[in-house]
Amino acid sequence: MSESRESRPRRFLVCEPRHFAVQYTINPWMNPDRPVDVDLARDQWQELIRTYRAHGHTVDSLEPVPGLPDMVFSANAACVVEGRVFGSLFHAPQRRPESVHYDTWFKAAGYDVYRPEAVSEGEGDLVWTGRYILAGTGFRTTREAHREAQEFLGHPVIGLTLVDPYFYHLDTALFVLDDANVCYYPEAFSPGSREVLRRLFPDAVLATREDALAWGLNSVSDGRHVFIAPQAEVLCERLADRGYVPVPVDLSEFHKAGGGIKCCTQEIR
Ligand code: ARG
Repeated sequence: MSESRESRPRRFLVCEPRHFAVQYTINPWMNPDRPVDVDLARDQWQELIRTYRAHGHTVDSLEPVPGLPDMVFSANAACVVEGRVFGSLFHAPQRRPESVHYDTWFKAAGYDVYRPEAVSEGEGDLVWTGRYILAGTGFRTTREAHREAQEFLGHPVIGLTLVDPYFYHLDTALFVLDDANVCYYPEAFSPGSREVLRRLFPDAVLATREDALAWGLNSVSDGRHVFIAPQAEVLCERLADRGYVPVPVDLSEFHKAGGGIKCCTQEIR
């Protein structure tokens, strides 16, 4: 059975990995002794941008800053809904200086930026479904930030507790397919949060642990095309069975920093 899905053009903000490296350890994926191939990382990232453009999406980029090796993960900079920019306060001191650069970009682009008082890592943990915000907590973004996000964005925020350190951001364990459905890895969540997801999305596409560890859930969907790690083989098949079109983009060098496709992609709505 395969329904025909419709894509909607998106606007993305990205940051070139010119200074990308693994220099510290703030999640279990990062090992500074394991070298990053900088040229390969640049090629993989450029392929992602080319692929977005080839599918009709607009891609803006901001200038990377030396000394901020994780700045390529633009998703963590904010959560933007209906032109309201809910900025970030990073958990790790190493990443805190990124915010000022992102905020400057948003201001120059004509947006006011709300600066949260509690730790909040943008779309890494605050995921807009089209009707409300699913909000991860447990490792980075705090419950207090969920409250701030709801107050500022004026949309319901539904808290979900993450329990596995390999899936430390919500966007490593769940992504939105379209206005009606999501895809996720249940075991990344506490039993209560799993139940919430089951009630909200009885038809969700579920991923295996293997595909979650292969970064299959750090994907971007435009409603039809799913830009996804090719290593998540079973998930690609499951998505195709549901009428989505998997578009493989390999960001293996970024997995070494604990990031993938979605982490490198901030959506501006
Ligand atoms: N090294 C970065 C960190 O630990 C990776 C961020 C990945 N971003 C994401 N949206 N999951 O903060």
